[in-house]
Amino acid sequence: MSTTRNTKNVPYYMLGFGAFSHLGELLEPKRAEGGPVFFYVDHYFQDKELAGKLPAAPGDKVFFVDTGSEPTVEFVDDLADAAKAMLNGGLPCCLVGIGGGATLDTAKAVGNLLTNPGKAEAYQGWELVKNPAVYKIGVPTLAGTGAEVSRTCVLTNMRRKLKLGMNSDYTVYDQLLLDPSLTRTVPRDQFFFTGMDTFMHCFESYRGGYRNIIVDTLSQTAITMCREIFLASGDMMREENLEKMTVASYIGGMAAGNVGVVHPLSAGLSIVLHLPHGKANCYALSVLKDIYPEEYDQFTEMMARQKVVLPRGICADLTDEQYDALYQGTIIHEKPLNNALGPDFRQILTKKRLIAMFKSM
Ligand SMILES: [Fe+2]
Repeated sequence: MSTTRNTKNVPYYMLGFGAFSHLGELLEPKRAEGGPVFFYVDHYFQDKELAGKLPAAPGDKVFFVDTGSEPTVEFVDDLADAAKAMLNGGLPCCLVGIGGGATLDTAKAVGNLLTNPGKAEAYQGWELVKNPAVYKIGVPTLAGTGAEVSRTCVLTNMRRKLKLGMNSDYTVYDQLLLDPSLTRTVPRDQFFFTGMDTFMHCFESYRGGYRNIIVDTLSQTAITMCREIFLASGDMMREENLEKMTVASYIGGMAAGNVGVVHPLSAGLSIVLHLPHGKANCYALSVLKDIYPEEYDQFTEMMARQKVVLPRGICADLTDEQYDALYQGTIIHEKPLNNALGPDFRQILTKKRLIAMFKSM
């Protein structure tokens, strides 16, 4: 089934080891337009070499983004308020997001909030952002989420008990610097869990009902690359794989959007247990053998090859309220569940079945 939606991709990217060194020259034409550059950098880099290499000029501002938990609507509202307080009614000439998915999404959300009135919550959904965002450059330092290329910025909303982004063409980055060398220092487990996000986005899309030939082709390509990285002999983090994973994330990000059953379960886990996204996805797939048998087997083999372990029993002894919250935090994601299972998804994923799945994690 083809769709007729008008599709926007990131207009410019620069790929290669050392691409980060070009950030200063990319900022020059933006600086000529007037206004400071605001950098949003994963707090991991606060005392690292990269922080000393930021091409910041007087008047610019570097915000270190706490990625200890995933961004919430309140978190990005506070950052947008802090930015506005420094701007005296003006705008930055550019925002630069440097980090993993949480940091990249934070910069995207702030970019929308600086040119659109009100709070982040008002823009959680589809096509709700009315004014073009501030120009922004994305520099991923972790590969797999596809946040560098997606048209959303996932935000946790505890009040509404959901994870939902600002799905909009204005959320898309204007320029990317894809520098695989920035992923060299990622801890092995994190490299695996985040890389798996690409694998999951793509097979969920490919196994779903909302499809088109471009997305299918992108998905298949990214899945093949993930298999090459995580199933072939040799270390998943060897130099050639850093570049391959950077590109797989980019390609997979273009295919993402219509996920399936993994992401709703993962969202439930993040809402209730505050698990990071990539790891939560892995827990979700670990109980979905019935629904995704082929991918379950591949994932299990990838874990074994890369010697990654998921400690069992994370949902074994929760309260009834927590099991209820896990169910609600999953079943609220109607669009992906419908994509994967059809309109009768509530009859297929009953509360009893879902809670049993969580208990078996
Ligand atoms: Fe994801």
